[in-house]
Amino acid sequence: MSNPLIIVNFKTYQDAQGHSAEALARVMESVETDARLVAAVSALDLSSVVKAAPNLEVWCQHLDPISFGSNTGWIHPDTAIARGAKGTLINHAEHKVSLEQVAMLLDQVPEGFEVCACAANIDEAKSLAALVPDYVAVEPPELIGGDVSVTSADPGIVSGTVSAVKETNDQVQVLCGAGVKSGQDISTAIDLGAIGVLLASGVTKSSNPADSLAELVSLL
Ligand code: G3P
Repeated sequence: MSNPLIIVNFKTYQDAQGHSAEALARVMESVETDARLVAAVSALDLSSVVKAAPNLEVWCQHLDPISFGSNTGWIHPDTAIARGAKGTLINHAEHKVSLEQVAMLLDQVPEGFEVCACAANIDEAKSLAALVPDYVAVEPPELIGGDVSVTSADPGIVSGTVSAVKETNDQVQVLCGAGVKSGQDISTAIDLGAIGVLLASGVTKSSNPADSLAELVSLL
C-alpha cells in the first residue's frame, strides 16, 4: 500500500491550538514521508495554520451544512474552503450529527473537497458508507485517547468495517483510529484493509511531536 493517509486531529488539545497549532503544522509539514499527512485543525486556526504551513494539507474537524445567512456560530463550508480547507471530518465521536446532516454536507461540498465520516462501529460505518463520503473512519469511542491502539485491541472492527463498507460502496475507503501511536499500528491498519489512520493524542500530547511523527511513518 503506497501513500497511506494519516490525519492528525488537533481537537482542542492545548498544544495544538493557536500558535502551537501553527508550530505543530510546521512540524508535520517537515516530515519526510510518502504518506499523505493531513492536519484537522480548529476552525479558529484554519487560516493561520494554512498560512504557517502552506505545503501541508489542512482540513476542518467539522462543518455545518448551512447556507449564507442567519446561522450564528455555525461553520459554513464555503468559508472554510475560502480559508484553505481541503476536506473535513464529520460525525466525530466527540461531535456527533445525524445521518441526514452528513448527507446534506456531502451534497453541499464541491467535487474534490474530501469528507471523512467517523463511525463508532461497523453498523454506523455501513450507514455512512451508503452516503458515499470519500472515507469512513472507524473509531471505537472507548479506545479514543487511550494507550491501546484499535488495531491491537479490536482488529476485527477494522477488518469488519472494511468488508462492510466495500460491500456497501467500494468507492469509499476506510480509515481506523483510536489509540494509534506507532508505525506498527499503521502497518497493522493497512494489513487489515484500511488505507490509513485518524489519530490525535499520539501527536498532540507528545512531548516531541517530530519524533512521534517520524515513528508513525517509520514502516511506510
Ligand atoms: O480523531 C482521532 C481520535 O478520535 C483518536 O484519538 O487520541 O485516540 O488518537 P486518539
